[in-house]
Amino acid sequence: MKTYIVGNWKLNFTVGEASIYLHKLQKKIPNYRDVEVVVAPNALALQSLSLQIDRHKMKLSAQNAFHRDYGAYTGEISFAELRGLVDYCIIGHSERRYIFGEDDKMIQKKVAAAVRNRITPILCVGETESERAFGETADVIRDQIMGGLRDVSEEDLDKVIIAYEPVWAISSTKAAKLASPDDVAEVVKKIREILKDTYGEKATEKMPILFGGSVNPSNAGAYLTVPGVNGLLIGGASLILSEFTDIIEIAKRVRA
Ligand code: PGA
Repeated sequence: MKTYIVGNWKLNFTVGEASIYLHKLQKKIPNYRDVEVVVAPNALALQSLSLQIDRHKMKLSAQNAFHRDYGAYTGEISFAELRGLVDYCIIGHSERRYIFGEDDKMIQKKVAAAVRNRITPILCVGETESERAFGETADVIRDQIMGGLRDVSEEDLDKVIIAYEPVWAISSTKAAKLASPDDVAEVVKKIREILKDTYGEKATEKMPILFGGSVNPSNAGAYLTVPGVNGLLIGGASLILSEFTDIIEIAKRVRA
């Protein structure tokens, strides 16, 4: 399985800035076969970056899309429209869940629409600080995974990536804390158990699980060596070229 290093740029970088960043990033990194580098700019930049990107070196991801392919849905962008522009789409990020009110039902439709349009969904799951304090982490994760994957057929399960992002560890969360590698190991083990119990080992053993939450060059190596973790979803540090490229190098070294 490849190691995935995904940069979530959120609502940062103008189209011009995104293009300059991509240009520098492509110059700085070689073509790593085992490390899948993915960047997720805002929707406006996807069209032009899709023409600029060297797909041998990295891939593009959207940060969100709407589950209907076309129709009277003012302001939305569909997976059908993204087809050919991106290889991945982040779905159910905690900012979508808690700022924009996306629930598991909506996320379920988005995951299915992504798969239908041959875009790999990166399904984000993770508990809030209070859910963790009340010992609800496993239940929350189970609901989010089973909700998100409900419309995905068994043979399509290997086209889905799960990203475990505890909300309390995301750098934009007030008073964010760092998750310890042991915290991550425990929940990732749980995620593998849920997947195995629900869909069977064979259908899900190849499903990549990423970790995200305040990842930077000094902790990336520790998270990448947690058993069952196949990559990282990076927000803040992905906006700083030197930090993002350092993390890509660390991923390469961890694999070697
Ligand atoms: P962070 O963001 O790395 O800045 O914590 C991660 C994310 O929100 O995907």
